[in-house]
Amino acid sequence: MISRRSFLATTAAATTAIAGHPLFSVAHADDGFLEITAGPTLKKLYHEDAKASDLWLYNGKTPGPEIRVTVGERVKVRLTNNLEEPTSIHWHGIRIANAMDGVSGLTQEPVQPGETFEYDFVVPDAGTYWYHAHNKSWNQVARGLYGPLIVDEATPAFDPEHDLTLVIDDWRLQKDGSLNVASLGHLMDWSHGGRFGNYLTVNGRSRPNFELKEGQAYRLRLINAANARIFSIAPESFGALVLAYDGQPLPKPEKPAYSPLLLSPAQRMDLLVTPERDFAFEELSGDTPYPFAFFKVQGRQDTKKAFLPLVPNPIPEPDLTNAKTYTIDMTGGAMGRMVETVYNGKVLTGEDFPRTGQLWAFNGVANLAEDPFFKIKRGESVILEVLNDTSFLHAMHIHGHHFRVIEREGATIDDGQPWRDTFAIGPSQSARIAFVADNPGKWLFHCHMLEHAAAGMNTWFEVI
Ligand code: C2O
Ligand code: CU
Repeated sequence: MISRRSFLATTAAATTAIAGHPLFSVAHADDGFLEITAGPTLKKLYHEDAKASDLWLYNGKTPGPEIRVTVGERVKVRLTNNLEEPTSIHWHGIRIANAMDGVSGLTQEPVQPGETFEYDFVVPDAGTYWYHAHNKSWNQVARGLYGPLIVDEATPAFDPEHDLTLVIDDWRLQKDGSLNVASLGHLMDWSHGGRFGNYLTVNGRSRPNFELKEGQAYRLRLINAANARIFSIAPESFGALVLAYDGQPLPKPEKPAYSPLLLSPAQRMDLLVTPERDFAFEELSGDTPYPFAFFKVQGRQDTKKAFLPLVPNPIPEPDLTNAKTYTIDMTGGAMGRMVETVYNGKVLTGEDFPRTGQLWAFNGVANLAEDPFFKIKRGESVILEVLNDTSFLHAMHIHGHHFRVIEREGATIDDGQPWRDTFAIGPSQSARIAFVADNPGKWLFHCHMLEHAAAGMNTWFEVI
């Protein structure tokens, strides 16, 4: 029985990580393309005596290699598919040209086994992003197909050695220490809170140590790569300030508005930490806090390196007076209200639910319909009114755009309404989000709890 309330921990002392990138590197081909290969890799996730896991990774690494570019740069990546099933890469949070968004079946044909696909796009915003498989993501991401995508400011705000990326994931291991593959696609996970793991890693390692210098300012970039787990953390306990959410900087570094802060699947958070003593990140959603990354203060930095303030990215402000409003009613799941649900143009009844795996719906439609949920002219402002009529929290993500959460439960939000690409909405809650539909193409709006997306919480809109 997998408990979502406790984690396995390796007994051996975790190795010490050297602070600073590059932790990873990607090879450039002669034509300027970064070579990324998706393929099966046998790897020991758990301790050395444990059985190796049948992972699917980018360039054989977990997480995949850190792709690090500069804002405004043109990024060229050649994906080679060495898997036995089709795949594609989505560049999460990048306001990208539609044809490069990497959504199998919507923005591109899936890349077949043995084939390649060339991604070629410009990164308009500095910040913390990530990339991951976008074909059967519930399976491919759970097996390891994801990596960090960091877009540096024109002049990087922090020195490389004071700028750390932490990719967090929870894996579901079985008794022999290997990835539990048999439980992938389990209907119980799909109808409840999604797939939870019992082994938490940061950059592929359990409970790593990082060495920091006392009194020096650091940027810690957190990326939640888990299929469904929401991490609860309390960065104010070690005096951290929030620099950015989902890649987009706050006007100035701020104390967290809530405690604990939730980091939902796919969300990112950049923190500013100036350590005076040792500290640890703790996962607080369980019965007892689980420390999952340790920071040790090793001496003082003699000459402290200053950092530059983060400048806002050029995201257009929505015009709330003239915005078009669309309502999404989220239904389904365990303990949820079942409405008449249409899937692939036909009404689902009784046995269809376990057979098709469709268990959730937006406005009574499970997964992508032939026609977009709405079509809108480029440049118009959109308000999405989202009603969570289910018993679970969901982490809702929009492709190709960032938005502001302007209202929750009918009340205006006054915490500055930071830009986001993914927002959490609790059971029975409602929220309104707003953005300018300024990016032409076909865009997904889906739950980033990947089992929920696969089981119906997925729709699309078109900007023309
Ligand atoms: Cu992070 Cu539709 O994706
Ligand atoms: Cu969900």
